[in-house]
Amino acid sequence: MEMIAGQITKLNRREFLYYIWGASLALLSAEGLGAIWWYAFHSDTPSKKVLRLDINQFREPDQPPKIYYPAVAVVHIGEKSASEPRLHKIKRTVTGRGIAVLRAVCTHLGCVIGWGSASERFECPCHGAKFLASGVVYGNPAKYDLSQFHFWFEDAYERKLTETMHRDFAPLQALPIPAGAETLVIDTSRYFMGEFHPETEKRLD
Ligand code: FES
Repeated sequence: MEMIAGQITKLNRREFLYYIWGASLALLSAEGLGAIWWYAFHSDTPSKKVLRLDINQFREPDQPPKIYYPAVAVVHIGEKSASEPRLHKIKRTVTGRGIAVLRAVCTHLGCVIGWGSASERFECPCHGAKFLASGVVYGNPAKYDLSQFHFWFEDAYERKLTETMHRDFAPLQALPIPAGAETLVIDTSRYFMGEFHPETEKRLD
């Protein structure tokens, strides 16, 4: 009789451990599923920060930049923007032609900049820094060109055609609009620092 009671006690202890183990496993699974759900619906994944724009509005080169929230400036660099006299004045060159996507945030202390239609350049309302349409820093106190967003072109079937290969502190990268492009896609979560140009220390008009 005692032996039977002992066996029952042993069995219950094992069962109890099984229950604990099972409950821990269930808890871990629930936490894992919760984390996946949170990541899918709440995190700032790049896919949630993609801006898709009809390419037809950018086909004409050298138009004023189009600015989208949050501080995304799309420019089409043509001959006029790439060879304007102000670039020569500061001894800078712009080699690429095509679409560039600039971050419309001042590289001095981070104020959002706007396009001045009379001056034809970006101007910072905080301390007066200036940037040309190509993102080139033109007037102090900023010392870096504007940052550039990663972007690519897609055709009507959302197939990727060409895309930027940015790196920090590199010159402006402008891409010609490829044949068959329908959409400009901008990943607003990925941007790269512009070139460093401390010689703009001198204020320019
Ligand atoms: S933040 Fe733009 S000039 Fe200072």
